[in-house]
Amino acid sequence: MKKLLILLVLFSYVMSSFAQQKTIWNETEEEKTERMLWWTEARFGMFIHWGLYAQAARHEWVKKREHISTEDYQKYFDVFDPDLFDPSEWAKKAKAAGMKYAVITTKHHEGFNMFESEFTDYNVMNTPYGKDIIKEWVDAFRAEGLKIGFYYSLIDWYHPHFTIDTRHSIKVNKQKDFDKLNKNRDMGIYREYLKNNVREILTNYGEVDILWLDFSYPGKNGKDKDDWGSVELLKMVRELQPNILVNDRLDLKDYKGGWDFTTPEQFKVDKWPEIDGKKIPWETCQTFSGSWGYYRDEHTWKDNKQLLTLLIESVSKGGNVLLNVGPTARGTFDHRADDALEDMGEWMKYNSRSIYGCTQAPEELLAPANTLFTFNPKTNRLYVHLLDYPLQNFLMPGFAGKIKYAQFLHDASEIKVGKKHGAWGNDGTNENDVNLKLPVTKPNVEIPVIEIFLKDNK
Ligand code: GLC
Repeated sequence: MKKLLILLVLFSYVMSSFAQQKTIWNETEEEKTERMLWWTEARFGMFIHWGLYAQAARHEWVKKREHISTEDYQKYFDVFDPDLFDPSEWAKKAKAAGMKYAVITTKHHEGFNMFESEFTDYNVMNTPYGKDIIKEWVDAFRAEGLKIGFYYSLIDWYHPHFTIDTRHSIKVNKQKDFDKLNKNRDMGIYREYLKNNVREILTNYGEVDILWLDFSYPGKNGKDKDDWGSVELLKMVRELQPNILVNDRLDLKDYKGGWDFTTPEQFKVDKWPEIDGKKIPWETCQTFSGSWGYYRDEHTWKDNKQLLTLLIESVSKGGNVLLNVGPTARGTFDHRADDALEDMGEWMKYNSRSIYGCTQAPEELLAPANTLFTFNPKTNRLYVHLLDYPLQNFLMPGFAGKIKYAQFLHDASEIKVGKKHGAWGNDGTNENDVNLKLPVTKPNVEIPVIEIFLKDNK
C-alpha cells in the first residue's frame, strides 16, 4: 500500500513537471482569441524579403544554391547601398493595396542583420548605406497605421558557430564530413547570439506586433527546438512583448503557448486547418513570382485574378494571406510588384468589406458552383464572390427565406431577389432556391461580389 502511494506521488510529480515543461505561456483560449483579434480581422499583410541577396537578384537562397563562400559573398556587403529606399512610399503602397500589416526580414538565412546590432559587425551600419534600415522601416510603416512584424531567420550561414547541416550553404558530400567540419563549431555560442539578436529587435523598436521565426527541420543533420533553445527563447519573447503574435516554426507545436498561428507556405489549404478537431489560426505566405528575394530573371508571376482568388479563398476558410514583395538593391519595388499591388488595391478599394472582419460562412450555407463565400458574423452579411461571371438568372440553392436584401458590393446597386427559376417542372430547381437577377454584362470588376444581408433568424 505504502509502495503504491509512493509510486502515485512520484507519478503525479513527473506528470506535473511534464505539464509544466510543456507550457510556455499560460493564457486561456479567450485571451488568445482576444490577443489575435486585430490580426484575424486584418486578413491581409505584406511580407518583405530584403537583404544582401537582392544584389545577386537570383533568389534569397543564392548563397546555398551556388555554394558561394562567405569570402565571395562579401562583395554584396561591400556595395550595399539602397539609395532609393523610401519606406514611407512602401508603406503607402501596402496600405493602398489593402494590407493592414507588414513583416520584414530583419535577418535572412545569409546571416546579415538589416538592423544595428551590438553582437555582430555583419550588420547594415557597416555597409556603405550605414543607417538602421529596420528603424526607418518601422517608423514609416507605423506612421501609415500598419502593424509591424519582424521575420528573423533561425538559420545562419554566416555565423562561424552555426553548425553545418543539410541546409547550410557549405556543401557537404559525405556523412563523416559533417563531424569534421563542425569540429570547431559550438552551437551553444550561436544559441546565445540568436537570443541576443532577438532581444535586440524586440527591445529597440517599441511594440512589435508579429515575430516570424524561420525555420526548424528536425532529424538527422537538421535542427530542432534544442538547437535553437526554443523554449527559453520564446519565454523571453513573451516576456519582452506580451502582445506579440508568433508563428509556428520554432518546433514548439506541442507546447502550450509555443505558437500562435500556423503558416502554410506557397499552397492553398484544402480546408480550415485543424488540430484535434479544433480550427486553428492560420496565415498562408505567398510570393508574386517564384522567389521571395528580388529575382530579376524570374517570370512566373501570378495574375490579378489568381491573387485575388487566393485572398478570397483564404478568408473563406478562415485564414490570412501574407503576400511577399522582394525589393531591389536600390530600395525600390519591382515594377511587376507595383502593378500587382495596384490592381489588388483597385479591387480592395470597393470590395474590402468582404475581406476585413470576415471568415468562413456558416456550414449550412452552400456556395453555388464557381463562387466563394465569406461571411461577417458581426453584421450578419454574406459575400458571394463570382469567380466566373454567371448568367442572368443566378440560382442560390437553399436560400429561400434567408435573404433580407442583396446588392453588388462595388456600387451598392440592388440585385433583385426572385423565386426559383423556371416554371416547367422538372428543371432541377426547387422551392428552397432563390433566383438573383443579375445584369447580363459583367460589371467592370475583376471578381464581382454580391453582398447579401441575411435575415436574423433568431
Ligand atoms: C522558406 C524559405 C525562405 C522564406 C520562407 C518564407 O522557409 O527558406 O527563403 O523566407 O520560406 O516563408
